[in-house]
Amino acid sequence: DLYIVLMAGGVGVRFWPYSRNSKPKQFLDVLGSGRTLLQSTYDRFLPLCPKENILVVTHEEHTKLVHEQLPDLMQSQILAEPMRKNTAPCIAYASYKIRKMNPNAIVVVTPSDQLVLKEIDFQSVITKAASQAAKQDILITLGIKPTRPETGYGYIQFIEGKGFIKKVKTFTEKPALAIAKKFLESGDFVWNAGIFIWSVQAIVKALQTHQAELADVFEDIEKDLGTDQEKMAIEQAYGQCKNISIDYAVMEKAENVHVCLGDFAWSDLGSWGSIHEISEKDDHNNAIQAQALTYDTRNSIIRGSKGKLIVVQGLNGYLVGDFGNVVIVCEKDKEEQFRKFVNDVKGLP
Ligand code: GDD
Ligand code: MG
Repeated sequence: DLYIVLMAGGVGVRFWPYSRNSKPKQFLDVLGSGRTLLQSTYDRFLPLCPKENILVVTHEEHTKLVHEQLPDLMQSQILAEPMRKNTAPCIAYASYKIRKMNPNAIVVVTPSDQLVLKEIDFQSVITKAASQAAKQDILITLGIKPTRPETGYGYIQFIEGKGFIKKVKTFTEKPALAIAKKFLESGDFVWNAGIFIWSVQAIVKALQTHQAELADVFEDIEKDLGTDQEKMAIEQAYGQCKNISIDYAVMEKAENVHVCLGDFAWSDLGSWGSIHEISEKDDHNNAIQAQALTYDTRNSIIRGSKGKLIVVQGLNGYLVGDFGNVVIVCEKDKEEQFRKFVNDVKGLP
């Protein structure tokens, strides 16, 4: 049986002040489609399995939001984390929980803040990968053809072969720019989409092999999962977990990683630049979601709130946003600066 794990515990720092602690990016309708990113992700996977098999893992302060946005899910399908420890503990928690329910489960683990335009193609790739994961003790990831030396992604080098899934030679998480450039030039690498497909047995085995401490922590509390003791046990367990992503924890280390190449118009919506890229634009390449008057303004993003007119003149490549109690005007492509803003405004809700 197929299970889907939606990871929805990130904070979306690079999108502050649009993304807030109280409502991170995955809970926002980033594209103005009428559905939040979490909801669109749920919709994308729903045709693949019974909705009872979809789990969402999030920080405990956001379980209510998940419940509101995905009212079809039962409380037991929303896994609450007492603290943020990145994706390895999140995946360990979900995996041990699923293993207890169904030791033969096939699991798809996915971010909840990405965009896929060709959903049918995407679903067919997932289905094929899942059937391979059911046959072999392997960890499958989806690979995307790279277009720029992005340093926020994992890079995968694989062994050419005819099959649908290819054996991975190297997995390098978030390389330095110079290395990312080399990878891109070599033409030998694909990006890691951050979407993983494996049997619950394969991932548990990988955790036991490469993150023995983490596996031990969850094996100690396995008996409590699904009982009244779960919340307390998880609190204890998370207190002992180190903060590490699955990419560093397992994918870089494991020898049974395979990749499926997908062409389904994917974006991780990781920057304002990528949101601009996929948004509808006016004649001057402005992506506007606001009541706005623009003059001599190009290549910009304008976001407003209801009832406020935004007048912009003479800007090129800017983000102009009115987000609740913060107004931001900055160069939209200077990605490093967003972390700095968040650092500097500590304490502002
Ligand atoms: N539940 C939970 N708990 N979810 C989390 C946590 C956590 O502590 N931390 C992150 N997430 C969620 C995020 O909300 C997101 O949906 C997903 O897990 C991935 O985390 P990111 O923080 O966005 O990872 P990344 O973008 O830096 O890198 C990953 O994705 C890239 C593609 O978008 C890696 O897998 C890269 O290799 C990959 O290229
Ligand atoms: Mg991401």
